[in-house]
Amino acid sequence: MKKLYVKTWGCQMNVYDSERMADVVAPLGYAAAEDAVDADLVIFNTCHIREKATEKLFSELGRMRLHQKAKAARGERMLLAVAGCVAQAEGEEIRRRAPYIDMVFGPQTYHRLPEMIAKINRGAGAVLDVEFPPEPKFDALPEARKTGVSAFLSVQEGCDKFCTFCVVPYTRGAEYSRPVAAIVAEAERLVQNGAREITLLGQNVNAFHGEGLDGKAWNLGRLFYRLAEIPGLKRLRYTTSHPRDMDDELIAAHRDVPQLMPFLHLPVQSGSDALLQAMNRKHSADDYRRIIEKLRAARPDIALSSDFIVGFPGETDHDFAATIKLVREVGYAQAFSFKYSRRPGTPGAIMPNQIEDGIKNARLGELQKLLREQQEDFNRRMIGCTLSVLFENEGSEPCMLFGRSPYMQAVRVPAPTRLVGEEMAVQIEKAGFNNLSGSLIMANAA
Ligand code: 5AD
Ligand code: SF4
Repeated sequence: MKKLYVKTWGCQMNVYDSERMADVVAPLGYAAAEDAVDADLVIFNTCHIREKATEKLFSELGRMRLHQKAKAARGERMLLAVAGCVAQAEGEEIRRRAPYIDMVFGPQTYHRLPEMIAKINRGAGAVLDVEFPPEPKFDALPEARKTGVSAFLSVQEGCDKFCTFCVVPYTRGAEYSRPVAAIVAEAERLVQNGAREITLLGQNVNAFHGEGLDGKAWNLGRLFYRLAEIPGLKRLRYTTSHPRDMDDELIAAHRDVPQLMPFLHLPVQSGSDALLQAMNRKHSADDYRRIIEKLRAARPDIALSSDFIVGFPGETDHDFAATIKLVREVGYAQAFSFKYSRRPGTPGAIMPNQIEDGIKNARLGELQKLLREQQEDFNRRMIGCTLSVLFENEGSEPCMLFGRSPYMQAVRVPAPTRLVGEEMAVQIEKAGFNNLSGSLIMANAA
């Protein structure tokens, strides 16, 4: 057996891709290792969405170069690969600055890993593969070998929206949706292998329009109705969505499909229409409010999450106040917030009126304080309630299981290991910022 070490940065799409890379090289005899030091193949799966990714990568590579040299001194070889969005965006630069790297490839070509490795073994030199190949990589990927209780399934990739701050359309390429038949088959396999919850992934997952079982394009709502028919599949989730694509059928699925969990990550980025326009978001703050209203009418307990950017070029105090106002009105169960980071090649990077860092810091601090209060408050409201918890694995403490509530909250409960994979009623007793704890309701535990 050869040792494979994969380190992953960034979003859940990257987590999914890393697992699939392991699947792709498994037939070549590579098995996952905990530690990079002695590995035969090291893959860094990178993220380019915010600053410093490249510098962080080079410092990691520098360290790995020492292990590579130590291994070479013993007459063995460590193949080093850089994958993901930094590789896609800066492939040439990486090759130039770190010539000891064997493979550089983007998110759309990792199914070709066996060919790349064969080429290197033939002594044909290092490989740079940052194409957007015409054949979808999904058709070439082997079946997933293992899964946890909660599994990811990539259904859509890429983005055609070109928000002016974002690199994704350049690194992940044009929007693509997988055919429904392939998704259903993969979901069924995941469930056979033990998955009880599936999270559908895509950069623009709710823009999904894959070929349906009737040959016509299906939207994401329709796909959920079909996936809900799979026996043994208890929970469905999806991420990440765009407000523009939150259509009525998807909202109706939140009302009609019990497996579809009452939690939605729907990034709004800003509460100011001027900023939303400068960001090319293609919706207003009121459009977003109306969507939230419809969602709450369909599923009154739906918990909401979002992404926010502060300090986008031109953001005034007035614009920022509109974001704070929107956050107060909506009330979030959790959210991510970031300082705007200039990404080379995106329109935002060359806009006038860039905001100075001091102002960005102050705004981020204020926004995060409010979001933190909302999250704490949301969690605290669960105390005394009974929540259905899907147990995913043994927690870090003995005799405790880790699971999630329908609202994505992490829950720790004293419970026997045999309940991993089961959904159980849990009485919530304590709530912190990041997790809940409670105890099994005994009638259920029998
Ligand atoms: N600067 C700061 N945040 C960004 N995001 C994307 N691009 C940038 C950027 N240039 C954030 C957005 C997006 C999330 C995944 O990352 O909020 O929704
Ligand atoms: Fe980036 Fe906007 Fe596309 Fe999301 S919708 S991936 S933020 S360009």
